Formats: sequence, structure tokens, C-alpha cells
Amino acid sequence: MQILTLGSGKGGVGKSLIAANLSIAIAQAGKNVVLVDLDLGGSNVHTILGFRSLAEGIGTYLSNTKLPFENIVLPTPYSGLRFIPGDAEIPGLANIKSFQKKKLMRKIFSLKADFVIIDLGAGTSYNILDFFLMSSAGLIVATPSLISILNAYLFLKNSVFRLMYSLFPKDSASYKHLEEMRREGSTLQKIYIPHILEWVKQMEPAIHRDFQDRISRFRPRLILNMLEDPKDDEKSKKLRRSVQEYLGLTMEHLGVIYRDDLQSIALNSRLPIIKYKPSSVLSQAIYRISDKLIQSEIEEEGFIDIADAEESFQTAALEAESDFQAKLYNLEELLHTGTLTTGDLVETIKSQHFELSQLKKENQLLKTKLARAIKQGYKP
Ligand SMILES: Nc1ncnc2c1ncn2[C@@H]1O[C@H](COP(=O)(O)OP(=O)(O)OP(=O)(O)O)[C@@H](O)[C@H]1O
Ligand SMILES: [Mg+2]
Repeated sequence: MQILTLGSGKGGVGKSLIAANLSIAIAQAGKNVVLVDLDLGGSNVHTILGFRSLAEGIGTYLSNTKLPFENIVLPTPYSGLRFIPGDAEIPGLANIKSFQKKKLMRKIFSLKADFVIIDLGAGTSYNILDFFLMSSAGLIVATPSLISILNAYLFLKNSVFRLMYSLFPKDSASYKHLEEMRREGSTLQKIYIPHILEWVKQMEPAIHRDFQDRISRFRPRLILNMLEDPKDDEKSKKLRRSVQEYLGLTMEHLGVIYRDDLQSIALNSRLPIIKYKPSSVLSQAIYRISDKLIQSEIEEEGFIDIADAEESFQTAALEAESDFQAKLYNLEELLHTGTLTTGDLVETIKSQHFELSQLKKENQLLKTKLARAIKQGYKP
């Protein structure tokens, strides 16, 4: 079974759209596919697939211990494709508990399928990172915008920290060193990964070897979405260079997808674009990526230890997305490799201002929703 997780850091880059359409394309190629909506708190894959309303999903499963998992694995109108909905009907599941996460992961690992495709929410919270790391070759979705490239980079950097925390034995000097660095630096983002690894290599070569062995199997794959122009793809080369140089990761490029105006028409018609117009630029790009994925055999061999994981990443406090300071620090790394120019920085700051105001609006909206839910009897 191949597990494909989709992460991005930044929201709204096309993860859900790609997850849904890719699942259909792979199923059409004769594979047995399960699509899972793990964007807890923001599930929307069901709308892309064209479901009107759903009674049960991961939300109901986690809050009702008697509900068998099989009940939320739904058939779809697409032959070979089953679907596990998220939690659209139940607010408050964005921060699931550790035992719930483990239970969910176990259930997903035990699914019988050729491909399990997992859509994730935006951000780099440790829950999202852990779900992402269920695959050793997860898909990173980004757009050519600088903020999206930066977030993709941060997402991968956090994934590497997450792996360090889970692979360094807790009583090892390396683990303690990592903790010390974090305390001193106040945030993991300021830590330069090659320095840590050099330290570990000197002090505890065996741990270094184990880590290198594991990290060499971590092969995240990039999908660059919403291109307007061929030169937009230059960004991916630069991202790849930064990822190689500063994170020690080899990233594969799975392909580009252009922005396609037909998508909004498809959405209105309640059909996934691959069904609505298989000949569209967007659908063709999805088919191309689907072919590549089917051809690449990725063996999942206990890439991450679920049981051991939780404690370590509690401490790790990997949630860096709100850490503006840290972002600036990482900008330096990107500036250094020429991924960003000073002019780009100005654009980045402008778009961050815009994002902040959007977030404020979103926050206000959610508060209103929550107030309404509480009025109707929901207990937080
Ligand atoms: N290549 C494309 N061409 C046109 N529209 C696109 C394309 N990719 C995505 N979109 C549109 O962009 C919007 C965001 O896409 P989507 O919801 O899939 O992003 P996401 O990464 O899942 O977001 P979130 O992080 O909020 O879950 C949607 O309206 C989608 O239809
Ligand atoms: Mg989404």
C-alpha cells in the first residue's frame, strides 16, 4: 500500500483539489484507492467530490467510540475509489488528542488498498506534521508565490525536526543537545540543521548513522500549482537547492499545474474537474502526476514510530507558523541561496500584511460560528 499525504504549510494552494482529482485519476487507472479528508477543522473534500451532505466522518468516529471505522469508509460514484470524510459537521476537532491520532493512524495503516491519499490542513502544527510523515514520500504542494515557497520550506524544516525528536533516543546527548539549542534559541527555526548533525556525528556517531539512514529515505515530492507562466517553475529549482543545502533532503519534482479557469466552473457544477472536463489543462496535469505516482514504487517500512512519537513532539513545540521572527530568520537562508531577492522581501511583507488581515476576518467569523454553536448547546 502506498500512502500519499499532502502538506503545504500555506493554505489555499490546492491540496484538497489535487487530492480529490488525483484519487479519481489513480482509481481510473485500475487501482484500489481510499481518499481520506484529514483536514480536521476545515474538511471540504466532500464538496469537491460532489457529496451534498454527510452524516458521518472522522469527527463522528472520534467522538463516538461505538461507531465501527468501516462505517465511515464510504463508496463513491467512482469505481475503485472509497472516501473517508473529515469532520465538517463537528466543530472543535482541529486539535485531536494524542490517543485519537494514534488510533486514527492505526486504522488508516490497516486499510486494504493500493493507494491511500490523505488530504491535510494548512500549517505546521505537530498533528499535521505527524500525519504528513505517515508517508516517507509525501507530496508538498506550493504555488509560485514567495510566501507559499517559504511555507513549503518551513514545513519541510519542521518535518526534519520532528524526525530528529522522534529518532534521537530521549536519554541521548543528542536529544539533550537539541533541547538545549531550542531553549537557547527560543525557537527551532533559528537552528541550523547541518550544525546539529555535525555535532551528533562527533558525539554519537551511531545515532547519527541511524538518523542518516532514516532521513535518506525521506523523499518529499513537490507539486507546483497555479502557474501562470513557464518561468514560474524557476522557483521550484531554487526551493530544491535550499532544501538540499540547509535541510539535507532530496526533493523530487512531481510536476506543475497551471491555474485553470475551468476549475471554478467545475466546482459550481459539483463535479471534480477530472470528471467535468478530462481534457482540460488541469485534468491533464493531474493525469500526468497520477502516472508518475503509479510508476514510482515507494515502500513504507515503519517510517515513523507512532507509539513513541507523541511525547517527543509535545516538547518539540514545532508550531512555528505564527512565529514571525522565525520566518524572517529563514528568509535569510533563502536569501543566501538566491531563492529570494530583496525586492521579493518587500512583496513578502506586503502579502503577510494581507494574510494577517484575512486571518483576523477568519478568526472573527469562526468566533461568531462558535458563539452560535454554543448557543445551540455545543459544549467546548
Ligand atoms: N490549478 C488551479 N486552477 C484554478 N483553481 C485552482 C487550482 N488549484 C486550486 N484552485 C482553487 O484554489 C482554491 C484553493 O484550493 P484548495 O481548497 O484545494 O486548497 P487547499 O490547499 O486545500 O486549501 P486549505 O489549506 O485551506 O485546505 C479552490 O477554490 C480551488 O478550486
Ligand atoms: Mg484543503
